[in-house]
Parts: sequence; structure tokens; C-alpha cells
Amino acid sequence: MTPARSSAPVVRVAILGCGAVGASLVAHLLSRTDDLAVQSGARIEIAGVAVADLSRTRPDHVPKDLLTDDAASLVVDPSIDIVIELIGGLEPAGRLIRAALESGKPVVTANKELLASPEGIDLRAVAHRRGVDLLYEAAVAGAVPLVRVLRESLTGERIQRVMGIVNGTTNFILTKMSDDGTEYAEVLATAQELGLAERDPTADVEGHDAAAKTAILAGVAMGYDVVTAEVPREGITHIGSVDIEFAARFGYVVKLLAVVERIGADEISARVHPAMVPTSHPLAGVRDAFNAVFIEGEWAGELMLYGQGAGGLPTASAVVGDLIDATRNRLAGTTSLVPERRPARIYPVAELRSAYYLTIDVEDRPGVLGLVSTVFGDHHVSIRSMEQIEQEELIGLARLIFLTHAAREGDMNETIDALAALDAVKRVGSTIRVFGEDTA
Ligand SMILES: NC(=O)c1ccc[n+]([C@@H]2O[C@H](COP(=O)([O-])OP(=O)(O)OC[C@H]3O[C@@H](n4cnc5c(N)ncnc54)[C@H](OP(=O)(O)O)[C@@H]3O)[C@@H](O)[C@H]2O)c1
Repeated sequence: MTPARSSAPVVRVAILGCGAVGASLVAHLLSRTDDLAVQSGARIEIAGVAVADLSRTRPDHVPKDLLTDDAASLVVDPSIDIVIELIGGLEPAGRLIRAALESGKPVVTANKELLASPEGIDLRAVAHRRGVDLLYEAAVAGAVPLVRVLRESLTGERIQRVMGIVNGTTNFILTKMSDDGTEYAEVLATAQELGLAERDPTADVEGHDAAAKTAILAGVAMGYDVVTAEVPREGITHIGSVDIEFAARFGYVVKLLAVVERIGADEISARVHPAMVPTSHPLAGVRDAFNAVFIEGEWAGELMLYGQGAGGLPTASAVVGDLIDATRNRLAGTTSLVPERRPARIYPVAELRSAYYLTIDVEDRPGVLGLVSTVFGDHHVSIRSMEQIEQEELIGLARLIFLTHAAREGDMNETIDALAALDAVKRVGSTIRVFGEDTA
């Protein structure tokens, strides 16, 4: 690659945060200055790196003289051209981004939590009003080029559905449970040892992280403003190795799916839940901590994007892509702004249809099966198959495993409540949606 001419304009960037992603970004920018100048048309110079605690030890490549604990002054410094926010969380990230945008500076961020909050929606409005870029490729699925693909390559497409594996931690856990037959708690401990799960794993295993990404996807893919609180979410903590084993026997793998789909003319459903995915589906082959997003367009048909959804370097790579975009736009006096979004009309969860897998432990005596079947029928849920399995620990009990035909979610929930109320039913186990079965 030809080195950039020394006459190339200089673009000064402020980096807020020097953790896993921020420190990787600094390494990236310092090691590739010439390449980035050719690609962006400017020499990108790091003007300052804001951190919370100046006394903390930093990687050797981070120049000490660039560090500051005064992020608020850095973002409004008139000599700064572009702000990159890599602190995470709602505050002070939200305040700092707002200040940068209000002073006319483009912002690049990887902050899904903020972007999927009411404040995030407001920040996009501020970017519009001020005519500056607010770019966030790294916020969903890390290095996987998803936001730009949806916003640019597929901009003329009517996206019908986006289904993704957008949380690496849970995909790692489910993959290991499936490979080794190990239970959730044991695999979680391994993931924590490997640094693939936080000490407090709630955000990942309860689906909060995936819900924020789903809300962002609803905006990028369908043009609707959605916040995390509007995304119904279910995590993976109730999934047992017995469920995964059963799924495998019937040709499925269990995945935590982020789903955004158009329903009718002007409603959407955005949700996160585990699902049994047929092994023939491309998402079934996404293993370990990898992410993938499967997109269904009206004309483009099906396509899938796959890659590393987290980690300092992969995430910093996506941030650099946005930085180059913001730099080019700044030099050209333009922006990558997309049309204003509409508030979403969310389709009621109870009306969604899906086939289900359900396990219950019942008293092992005549007549119980009839009672149980009647409950399904009374709530308009039709049974596709039923199997009884022997479990050594179930003395005097039988475990029944049902696969249903497609049913309304509301009807399925009432069925579960009614089953749980039967004396003969001692335990209602996992309920998992079965993807790909006829939902009509
Ligand atoms: N890590 C990933 O794999 C990944 C993947 C995709 C997206 N993201 C997103 O990228 C962002 C950064 O994640 P990360 O993993 O790099 O986080 P991190 O390792 O926790 O780093 C956060 C950084 O922010 C700094 N910080 C905290 N409060 C601050 C304040 N008030 N002023 C200035 N700096 C402050 C911290 O300073 P100190 O170092 O002094 O504590 C630290 O350097 C988050 O939005 C995250 O969701 C991360």
C-alpha cells in the first residue's frame, strides 16, 4: 500500500475508555497509521484517551502522555474532530456522546446498552438534528459486518426476518453442553475460567445482552425505534442436558436466538429465547463463541453473516471501519445518516405461533396420560408426538416429553399453568420453542 502523502489532512480523535476494546483500538491505530491514511484520506491522530483511573496499569503500547481522566473536557475540545466512546453503560457514556454530538463531532460507539435505551434513541435524533454521524457497527455482533450491510448493501431490500446468534457466551455454553453432555452450571464455570463469561453472568445467560442487540437490529433492519425493555426475553438457565440430548435425537440443536420479524403490514416482533433449530439450518452450525445473523429479504432471499462477536481486537476492527467512514464523511462534508425511524408497533407476544417442546414429570399410574392430553386439547394445543423416558432418579414418576404442532403462545402458557395445577403432575420442566415447524 502506498504511504499517505504527508500533505494529507490530520483528523484528531478522542478515545473514551481504554479497556479490552479501547486498548486494542489504540494498538490498531498506532500500528497502521499509513494504511489508515490511504483508506480514509487523512492521518488519524489519537489526541487523547480518557479513562476512569489514571493509576491503573495499561498495556505498554498505550502512550501514557495521551491518558486523561477528564473525558468531559476532551469531548468538547475544539481541536478534536471525532469521538470514539468505548466506556460502555448508560452514564457517563450518554452525557459524553450527547456533548460531542451537540458540538458537531461525529461519534463512533460500541455501546449496545446505551443505543438500545430511550437515551440512545434520543441521541440518534440529536445526531440527525446536528447533521453528524453516530456510527455503531461494533455494538451488535462485534466484528461481524452487520449494521453496514443492512444499512447500505440491503438498503433497498424489504427485510422480512432477522434471526441471530448474537451472544457468544451463551452459544459457547450451549455448544459445550451439546458436545460433552455436561450440565449448564459446570459449563458456565468453565466459561468463567476461560474468560468467556463474566463473574456475574446475568446479562449474558438471562438474555439481556441479546435483547439490547435485538432492539438495535429492529432499528437497522426494519426502521423501527425499539428499546430493550420492549423485547421479551428468556435466557438459557433452565436448559438441561436432557433437553439438548432429546433435541439432538430429533435432529435439532438448541440455540439462543435473537429474532426480529415483520408481521402483517406494520407490526414487528422482536424477542430473545432459546429455540430448537433443525441441524440442517445454517445457524445450527454456529459453534462456540461465534456469532451469526441469518437475514431473510423479500427479493434477496436468505443470507448469513458469521464471525467473532466479541473480543478486544475483533471489536476494535469494527470500530476502525466506522472511524474510516466518519473520517471520509467529515472530509467530504457529508454523513452516513439514515432516514428517521418510526416508533414500533410490537405484535403481542401471546399471539405469536410456534411449535413447542415440553417436559413434565408425572405420577406413573393409569389414567394420567389421558388427563394430561385433555389439558392440551382444552387449550387448543395439538400434540405432534409424545415419548416417555426412564430416569433412574424418578422413583414412582415418569418423564413425558411432548412436541406440539404450532400453537399460540398464549394458549401454550395457559396449558403449562393448567398442567402445573394437576395433582398428578409433579414438575413442569423446560419449554423450548421449535423453530422451523409450520407456524400457520
Ligand atoms: N469487550 C468486548 O468484547 C466487546 C464486544 C462488543 C462491544 N463491546 C462494547 O464496547 C464497550 C467497551 O467494552 P470493554 O470490554 O472495552 O469495556 P472495559 O474493558 O470494561 O473498559 C471500559 C473502559 O472505560 C473506562 N471508563 C470507565 N468509566 C469511565 C469514565 N467515567 N471516564 C472515562 N473512562 C471511563 C475504564 O477506565 P479504567 O481502565 O480506568 O477502569 C476502561 O478503560 C462497551 O460498550 C461494550 O459493550 C465490547
